[in-house]
Formats: sequence, C-alpha cells, structure tokens
Amino acid sequence: MPDKPKYYLTTPIYYTNGLPHIGHTYSTIVCDTLRRYKRMRGYDAVMTTGTDEHGVNVERSAKKAGVPESEFVAKMAAEWRALWDELGVQGDEFIRTTDLKHAHTVQWLFKQCRDNGFVYPGHYTGQYCIYDNAYVDVKPGENCPDCGRPTETVTEANFYFKLSAFQKPLLDWYAKHPDFIQPEARRNEVLSFVEGGLRDLSITRTSVRWGIPVPGEEPHVFYVWFDALTAYLSAVGGPQYEKTGFFPADLHVVGKEIIRFHAVYWPAFLMAAGLPLPKQVWAHGWLLMDSAKMSKSLGNVVRPRPIVHVLGMDALRYYLLRETVFGQDGNFSYDALVQRYNSDLANGLGNLASRTAAMVEKNNGGKIPKPATFQPQDTALATKAQEAIGEVLEQYDKLGFSLALEEIWSLIAATDKYLTTEHPWSLGDSEADQQRRATILWTTAEVLRIVTALTHPVLPESTTKVWSLLGQPGRADCVALDGLRWGQLVPGTALGKSQALFPRIEKAEAIERMEAMEKEAQNAPSPVTTPAPASAPVASAAASAAAAQAAPEKIGIEDFAKVEMRVGQIKTAERIVGADKLLKLTVDIGTEIRQICAGIAQFYEPEKLIGRKVAVVVNLAPRKLRGVESNGMIVAASVGPEGRPVLAGFPDEDVEIGARLK
Ligand code: MSP
Repeated sequence: MPDKPKYYLTTPIYYTNGLPHIGHTYSTIVCDTLRRYKRMRGYDAVMTTGTDEHGVNVERSAKKAGVPESEFVAKMAAEWRALWDELGVQGDEFIRTTDLKHAHTVQWLFKQCRDNGFVYPGHYTGQYCIYDNAYVDVKPGENCPDCGRPTETVTEANFYFKLSAFQKPLLDWYAKHPDFIQPEARRNEVLSFVEGGLRDLSITRTSVRWGIPVPGEEPHVFYVWFDALTAYLSAVGGPQYEKTGFFPADLHVVGKEIIRFHAVYWPAFLMAAGLPLPKQVWAHGWLLMDSAKMSKSLGNVVRPRPIVHVLGMDALRYYLLRETVFGQDGNFSYDALVQRYNSDLANGLGNLASRTAAMVEKNNGGKIPKPATFQPQDTALATKAQEAIGEVLEQYDKLGFSLALEEIWSLIAATDKYLTTEHPWSLGDSEADQQRRATILWTTAEVLRIVTALTHPVLPESTTKVWSLLGQPGRADCVALDGLRWGQLVPGTALGKSQALFPRIEKAEAIERMEAMEKEAQNAPSPVTTPAPASAPVASAAASAAAAQAAPEKIGIEDFAKVEMRVGQIKTAERIVGADKLLKLTVDIGTEIRQICAGIAQFYEPEKLIGRKVAVVVNLAPRKLRGVESNGMIVAASVGPEGRPVLAGFPDEDVEIGARLK
C-alpha cells in the first residue's frame, strides 16, 4: 500500500504569561478541525501547537507570582494543554520553547545562518528601564510605561540577521508562489512592507536573561521571535527533519497581527539556513468583543471553559467556525452563541438525529429500514446531499468553514422540510404506507449519516455519538471522506444507544451561568501563586541555563550563595557623555579593578565617590550600557516613588576590600 501523503500544519505557539481566551482558542480550533479533516481525506496529517515561554514578560510574570520562571512556565503550559484537551484538540506535538530539543534546534538554526554569512555582530540601541531590566518601546526622555520611572538610551551588543539581503529573494518567492500568503489583503500588506525595504534584524539580546543561550556568546540569548518561530522545526525533528518527512509545513495558521513574522522573517531565516520554505501562511482575523480585539490588556476577554461547561465543547467549536468568515474579524456575543446553539445544534442537528432514531425505533424495531421505490422528492434530497458532499469538501479545502457549515445546515433544513412534507408519522399500516415510510426513514437516516461524517471535523464529540447511534461501523473519525457517497447506508443495520446531544437551554439562564463563571474565573487566583521550594526542578536544560541566573522572590540559601557580593572601593568616577544618569566607575574588588556603570549620576558627585567602600555584585554577566562595558553592579537602595538610589555602605567599621557579603 502506498504511504499516505503527509500534511503538516501548525498553530502559533502561545505566550505563557497569560491564560487562553477564546481568541487563542479560535486559532487552535481552526487547526484541529483542519487536521481532522485532512486525516479523513487520507492524509497522514500532523498538527503542532505549544507554548512560547521565554522573554521579559515571562520574567516579570514569574517575579510577580513569586516563583522561578521555569516553574511558572511549566504550570502555565500545563494549563494551556489541559484546555486544549477539554476542547477535543488532537495536537500531535505540544512543543514548549523550554524543551531541550527546541533549544538545540534554535542554536542549530542560528549556526546555519551564521555559517552561511547571514549573521554579524553589532549593537542595538533602545530605551532601557534599568529598574525593570528591559527595553521599552518609548522615545528618548520618556518614562518606562510599566513602572513609570525614567528610561536610559542604552546600546548593547547583539547579533544581527541580514534580513536586508532577502528583499529580492522574498519578492521572487511571493511572485512564484502567489498562494503563499492568504488572504489577499494580507498578501498585499506583506508585499508592500517588503517592497519598502528590509532592515537587518537584531536576533539576540544581552539585556534579557530568560531565553535560550547563544552558544559561546553568553550572555547573549535569542530574540523571542527567532526562538519561537523555530518551534515549527523543532516540533518535527529539528535538524533531523528529513527523517520525519513533515518539514516544511503545508500550512501555518496565524492571527493577522503576526503575519509579518511568519511571511517575512521566518522564510528569510529558512532561506539563510538553506532550508525549505512552508507552502502557505494563512492569517485569520480577530475575535472582537464590543468591537475591540479581545485581549488580556483590554480586559475584554471571554474564556472558553464557562462556555464548554454550559453548552459543551462542540457548541464553542461550532460557533467559532460558523459565525466568523475565516480571514475576517468576527464579533463575539453570548447572545449569538446561545442562539446558534439552540437553533442550529439543539433544533437542527440534535433534533434531526433524535427524531430519526425515534421513528426507526418505533416503526422498524430499531433497524434501518429497506427503502422501496424512490419518489422524485426523495431523489431531490439525495441529489442535494450528494452535491453537498462535493461543496463542503471544497470549502474545507479553502478553509471556508462558515460556508461549509452553511451548506451542511441547508441540507439539514431541507431534510426537516422533507419530513414535514412527507409526514411519515401519519402513514398507516398498509403495505404501501409501510414501504413509503421505510423509504422516507431510510432517506432521512442516510442524510443524517452524511451530515455526521461531514461535520465530524468541527463537532467531534457529538458526531461520534450520532455515528454510533446510526450503528455505523468504526469510528466517525475513520470515515474516508473521499469515499463518502449517497446510498451507502445498509438496510438492517441496528441502531446504537441513544445519547443526549444538545439539550435545549433557556437563553437568559445560559448566559447568566456563563457570565457568572467568567466573573469567577477572572477573580480566581492565578494558577501560579505558590512560591517554589528552593529545590524545585527546572523544566529543562534550556530553562535551567537561563534559570541559573534567575532570582525568585523566596529562595533557599544555596540560591542566594550563587550571588557573589564583595566589598569594593571606588577608585575613579566620571560622567558619560550623552548619558546623564550614568557614572563610569572603576572599583577595586580585592582581586582586580573592575569597570562598572551605575545609574547614580543625578544623585552623587563623581569626585565625592572616590575612596568610598561599596557593595558590589561581582559575578553578574558583563553588559554594555550606552556602549560602555559594565562588569558588575553596585548595590543601592531604591528610595521614594522616583527610585532615588542610595548606595549601600559600611559606616561602622573599616571593612577589608574584597570581603564577601554573606
Ligand atoms: N507567541 C506568539 C506567536 C509565536 S508563533 C511562532 C503570539 N502569541 S499569542 O498568544 O499572543 O497569540 C497567539 C495566537 O492567538 C495568534 O494567532 C493570535 O492572533 C491569536 N489571538 C489572540 N487574540 C486573538 C483574538 N482576539 N482573536 C483571534 N485570535 C487572536 O503571538
């Protein structure tokens, strides 16, 4: 038997500094539906999802929760995973960017790009908050948007990726592969961005600790997007991708705000490394709440769990795919959700299934009847069903989920109408009536079988029940859609057990319950609240490399012992041109004289510092501030709302230079 063709699709990997809302759920449900569909079309389809766990935001969230980053991300990743399970998502690989195999892949990809001449060392200049240890997106002179304190213009050493070299290769690629970026509007947006010229991209950071180390170049860690995009490769074999045969991806599904990363940076990295490019990147629109993008920062999020608890996972899957045209934005409303549930699922599919089963039970002893002569109205329904198969598959192929579902529900509506017109319940016991009823019931059950197979990718839970209710062999997910035809329902098949599908629900009550649960979830403590024991294991070697430098709020003595602080004496102090808050100091730490920059220029006169004894952190990785190397840190209290630095010192006794602080 020939091998099945392979198909590889991906969701974006999700940030772990927050929990999933239904916007994220949308990306994942789309991919899960497509993966199920492709499998039913005979593909060896693999879908990957996962979590994007590095960067400053995770550092901050972990700090806020009082746990090490490794523990924080492990708990958050577990939350994301659990939710996808509750939504029936069948990811084949859940990749975490703290997985060791991922770190190796990122380092390997970097090496390929570097060996091929597309990486060079340089400097990055941006506004830096010395209190939060992070670059912030503000102009020189503006304060940090997070803590409100002044920012510094800082230059740090980085490695740059020669993105500029890929302007022409990318434009050629887009021209040769007109379907590479979908939909059209996004393609145009990307084209004009690339046509406008590409600037080289800084792909490492020395100002961030929580990241994958650049081998031999510590303290450089990889820029989060170089790290995150590589997950698509590490999930399917990494450097050995040829062995799995799944790389490159057939499809990357992404939200429209991250199209540039996927349609410009990612293909450029791959070209630089000599790797094959994905076949397509599809950008979907946003789920809006009150006309704004649903997002944690706006506080307008709706979580999936309350919906799943009240209406079931299939209801959410159906609503997300039916209500929004793929590629466009869509508004979420509880009202529309329950409306869809009651009209399409409870009264539509659920009702068709239960009344068909009840009639077969009552009139044919629970066995699918044998049809007699087909009348034109039976044949008309058969034709509609047969045509629907072709149209639905075509729509699924184009990710036209809403149109596919519309087509299926139009078939359900036609069947309801057919039953009303043919009213098999009013036929009598004569031979002719019995035969007519058998034909009508077989026809109805055959529509239900086809509808069930076609909707399975979207409604995996309920269609599995309908499939066994119809007594069909195997599982619904094993149906070969390519072989699905009108007329395959075998008379005499015994019906299976009837199970509740979509019980009708009163709209106001459903909304009230979901909103109450949503409120509860919003007030619930974060899943990551308990401080870690000092010996908490780290998630992975990649994480441990970064976590070795991390400082949780409560730590054991062995962690504290990692910080080496010594008494130092300031030998020289001078201002730095263009950096009005920084002083450049040389400090004797007993074993050597170190150059250290300190953000104290506005509060200490350089001349008055000479000879002063200070506490120095001596084992900090060196970094550049305003282009000046700083090799250590002077300890100071941060006083008052403006964070005035007050140097720690030793007024009581003349302590020895180099003495360790314990
Ligand atoms: N970590 C990056 C992706 C890296 S992929 C190599 C990221 N993460 S995210 O958690 O912010 O977003 C992940 C996905 O969720 C994106 O596709 C994004 O568009 C989607 N959504 C988040 N909010 C959304 C809506 N309100 N509506 C629809 N999808 C949106 O970006």
